[in-house]
Amino acid sequence: MKVLVCGGAGYIGSHMVRRLSHDGIEPVVFDNLSTGHREAVGDATFVQGDLLERDDLRALFSRHRFDAVMHFCARSLVGESVQQPYAYYENNVAGTLNLLQAMREADVGKLVFSSTAAVFGHPETELIDESHPTRPINPYGASKRMVEIMLADAARAYGLRSVALRYFNAAGASPQGDIGESHSPETHLIPNMLCAANGDAPALKVFGNDYATPDGTCVRDYVHVDDLADAHSRALDFMASNEGAHAFNLGNGAGFSVLQMIQAAGEVAKRPIPFEVAPRRAGDPDRLVAGSAKARRDLGWQPRYTDIAEIIDTAWRWHRNARY
Ligand code: UFG
Repeated sequence: MKVLVCGGAGYIGSHMVRRLSHDGIEPVVFDNLSTGHREAVGDATFVQGDLLERDDLRALFSRHRFDAVMHFCARSLVGESVQQPYAYYENNVAGTLNLLQAMREADVGKLVFSSTAAVFGHPETELIDESHPTRPINPYGASKRMVEIMLADAARAYGLRSVALRYFNAAGASPQGDIGESHSPETHLIPNMLCAANGDAPALKVFGNDYATPDGTCVRDYVHVDDLADAHSRALDFMASNEGAHAFNLGNGAGFSVLQMIQAAGEVAKRPIPFEVAPRRAGDPDRLVAGSAKARRDLGWQPRYTDIAEIIDTAWRWHRNARY
């Protein structure tokens, strides 16, 4: 079995590539390296190319016969999406449309798509499950929701089978410590905390302590990147026997505040995380926690990493090793 991994040089994609190889499935990575890292791909076949270049896609699909596609390529920063909406719609929507058309021309009928909690907008319930309304409040979330709608239309019109996986907060790294999260600039909480712990960055800025949460800081649901990869593998199996377009929310179902994360990271790193309270960051909801019962029921998904210290520990191991 051969699977195209678009964005396989990125954070979550690179963990997926490793998982596929481990399972005896041949991954072919397609990535423009705008944010990904060639080193993260390891020995897997690598094709440098861009979803916005149809010729790149034509060449790729004529060279390989894929059984399925996993699509991780995206711009994914909420704040940046508000500043540069066209870049988000172009990359995330138009790029995906090119991919879907190339798949159709090549008669490849299965796709696992990286979606996000940002499709929901303001949370209206304690746990966000798939019945929660989808009313994105920024271009990033809107771009991902648009693709979900495209996938439903493609299922009806062309019989495309798809699974959209809506990640809550992807976290951690391979326990081997040789691949992990590396963005430039880094905006995410866990790497920023660990940089502050290491002295690689000044004190962590805690964005707001006046939210409607027990300690005033934002609550998020951190899910390990290898558990996300596992859900993708299960989604591949699921599509073998299920037609149509499906969506699943992926999280641990447990919320941690920024201050709780700082405490946990300090214990993992065995040193206090220096921090200061800063103004709120635009677009941060108080609390985002997943209801993932549907993934557990229909995919048989059971996250292995449920202890936040263990999740942070894998990130810390990577952080001390980081080679890219
Ligand atoms: N935070 C800080 N300081 C930092 C970085 C983050 O206080 O230096 C806070 C944020 O304000 C937020 C929490 O830590 O409350 C987590 O922030 P991240 O940037 O790590 O992650 P987000 O929750 O903003 O982003 C995630 C996904 C996005 C998705 C978004 C939906 O990474 O893809 O949830 O809101 F769009």
